[in-house]
Amino acid sequence: MTISCIQTHPTLGETEDNLDGAEEAVLGADADLVVLPELFASGYFFESTEQARQLAEPAPDGPTTRRLHAWARATGATLVAGLVERAGDELFNSAVVVAPNGWLGTYRKTHLYYQETLHFSPGRDGFQVWTVTDRRRRPYRLGVMVCFDWFFPESARTLALNGADVIAHPSNLVLPHCPAAMPTRALENGVFTATANRVGTESNGDESLTFVGQSRICSPRAEVLAEATAVDPMTIRAEVDPHQARDRALNLYNDRLGDRRPDLYTA
Ligand code: ACM
Repeated sequence: MTISCIQTHPTLGETEDNLDGAEEAVLGADADLVVLPELFASGYFFESTEQARQLAEPAPDGPTTRRLHAWARATGATLVAGLVERAGDELFNSAVVVAPNGWLGTYRKTHLYYQETLHFSPGRDGFQVWTVTDRRRRPYRLGVMVCFDWFFPESARTLALNGADVIAHPSNLVLPHCPAAMPTRALENGVFTATANRVGTESNGDESLTFVGQSRICSPRAEVLAEATAVDPMTIRAEVDPHQARDRALNLYNDRLGDRRPDLYTA
């Protein structure tokens, strides 16, 4: 199957333009799984919770999920993309999973970064894995984490223990460390990872954040199969075999998940 990550450069608050801007890349991705960045339609560094609320939408009945569904229908791809989710009075930093036949589910970011803590509630549902199919109807297991979740190795580990073959990782990375860490996350868990980051700088009025790009697709052998630059909006893609992820053996004597010693670990 083919995985594609679309590295974007959205403008804060310009949802319609940002969706229009991503459309050509999504329709041209020619992939089974297409991953877009965290909050890709709204932008990231909100001036206030009020601004975040104005850009929020319900999932799956909001404009971003509807547009993602149209793209999934047009291409046959499964899409994973971040949005500001409104649920009752709460806002979540969420990623939706959308297949050609419709919305499959929503993951609400567990570990909030920096001023996200002012605007969003942390997710309470844990790390979910969906069974999806590629364009040839072959099933694979897809897990989702969002950006700063990478910093907590338990996130990817839990997804692997829950059976993920591939971890889609919509991101708006500002710390420089994640691109170097992802091959290790893929290796230690025996999964493919697909980090879709953004580029550019955003200001909330007081402060600016610069996003580090370098979207990348990594293999269970710690290979970087495809990577983007730090500054350009661009699409990367890689051909992967999910069966490689199903064999968690490291060698004849070691199994990545089976050799764990949870009785000796502190939760
Ligand atoms: C981040 O979690 N957006 C750094």
